[in-house]
Formats: sequence, C-alpha cells, structure tokens
Amino acid sequence: MITITTASAMREYSRAAKSEGKKIGFVPTMGFLHEGHLSLVSMARKECETVVLSIFVNPIQFGPKEDLSRYPRDMERDERLCREAGVDAIFAPLAGDMYPEGFQTTVSVGEISTPLCGASRPGHFDGVATVVLKLFNIVEPDAGFFGQKDFQQLLVIETMARDLNLSARIAGAPIVREPGGLAMSSRNVYLSAEEREIALSLNRSLSWAEEVAKTSVAEAGKIVEGVRGRLEEAGVRVDYVELRDPKNLKAVENTSGGALLALAGFVGKTRLIDNRIIGK
Ligand code: PAJ
Repeated sequence: MITITTASAMREYSRAAKSEGKKIGFVPTMGFLHEGHLSLVSMARKECETVVLSIFVNPIQFGPKEDLSRYPRDMERDERLCREAGVDAIFAPLAGDMYPEGFQTTVSVGEISTPLCGASRPGHFDGVATVVLKLFNIVEPDAGFFGQKDFQQLLVIETMARDLNLSARIAGAPIVREPGGLAMSSRNVYLSAEEREIALSLNRSLSWAEEVAKTSVAEAGKIVEGVRGRLEEAGVRVDYVELRDPKNLKAVENTSGGALLALAGFVGKTRLIDNRIIGK
C-alpha cells in the first residue's frame, strides 16, 4: 500500500492501474476510520481490482461554528487499518494543494441539498459536492462508494453524478452500527460515557418507529412526534426529525411505500445523525 499526497502523482497512479486493465474503486473519507468506512472498502474490493481511499478533512464543508479544528485525526492508525483492509493507495492531499490561493469554483446541487442537513448546515453540501467532484477528477475512479449513514449526501452525490455526466458508478452501502446500535461515526469519539448512553436513543427511536410502521401505515405526525419525544426524554437536543420520500427527499404524509425517517440532534456539543427506511 502506498500513501500519495499530490494530485499529479494520484492521477498517474490511477492511469497506470487502468492501463493494466484494473478497475478503480474509490472510497472518499475524512479519516479517523472505523468499521463503517471499512465496509465501503470491502464493497469496493469485491468489484474493483484497485481500491483507493482518500483521507481529507475538507475545510469548505464545515460551517464557521463547526468542529473543523478539532475534527479527530490519526494518520498512523488509518494507514494500518487501510493496509489490513486491502486498500491499495491512500490519497491524502494537503488543504493548501486542494484549495490554493485563487480557488473560486463551487459545485452546487439544487433542491436535494436544501432540506434536512442542508437546512441546518448552510453551504455544507456545496462543500461536499465540490470536494467529491475534485477527488473524482483526480482519482478517475470506475466506481465511488458512499454510506447510507449520510443518506442525503449519497443522494446529492448521485444527483451530481447524473447531472454532470460523471463516468463513475455511485454505490451506496448500509449503515454499520456499534454493538449497542449507535451508528458508527468518527465524531463518536467526542462522546463521554454518559453521552454515549444518551446517543443510543437515536437508534432506539428509529427502531420504535420501524415497529409502528410494520403493522400498519403510520402518519408522519405520529412518527415524528413519537421519535422527537423519545429523543428529548433521553436528553438529545433535537435538530430535526423528518419523514421524507427516500428518492427525492420530498415530505411525505405517511409511511406507505417506504419512507425515509431521518434525524439529527446534539448530544452535548456533538451533532449526530441517523436514519432508517420504515414502512412498506
Ligand atoms: P466521512 O464522514 O469520513 O465518511 C466517509 C464515508 O463513510 C461516507 O460515504 C459515509 O457515509 C460513510 N460512513 C460513515 N459512517 C458510516 C457508517 N456508520 N456506516 C456506513 N457508512 C458510513 O462523509 C464524509 O466523510 C465526507 O463528507 C466526504 C464524502 C469524504 C467528503 O468530504
């Protein structure tokens, strides 16, 4: 496994692999890797001979009051996990090389970026779309792998790929959870033992809603109120709880046909998100 830090060396590596007839699978990350990231690596390995994983804490997707400066980093550990998981190359560029002086182009994906996390984090998805397009232009992958943990992000990337004729296939992977049910996230490291207990209410409240929607069609109001109440009771400061169409994120009135139940909330200072498709 090699670690590459410049765009030109990365592109050279990819083109050399392709000239040998190898398909390139790409897993973009911000590092501090966990099993969720590694599930994307194993998915990539199944269909691609070469797997590239990027580690880049992308400054332009963080708001001014967010956690950019304290975002967790551990390059040595990440390199070890990547080697064990069968990653062929890590791409870890410097922020100054990705955004040199004079950088002034932004990719903005429309409607799909506006609700949910887009409403609470203005500019966030522009930052994500911009960096992902840059990374795709550097790595030139055959397929890109993204987690459903960030469900809206996956839709934003799929929309951008379709609208801008990206050649890479975009693949989505299921949410990986800790044994207690908490969705894995690099940000879980911020949580104290007590906060971890509180954070379990995210998955628990989704499971409650899933059960309710299993037996009969459930109204959005009942689901949203039930989930919000459970989160607040546990000590979560709720950002949003919403029931949406999983294809286009439009609001839905009930769970018939399968609905995306998405939520975000603060446990202490840490913002966590989770989601599940419920009903059928
Ligand atoms: P990051 O939060 O590091 O996540 C990288 C990828 O791992 C994303 O596709 C995310 O959805 C996926 N992922 C994270 N936790 C997961 C879990 N518990 N189960 C399954 N997949 C999980 O998302 C980003 O970085 C950035 O926004 C990025 C796309 C790299 C652009 O900067």
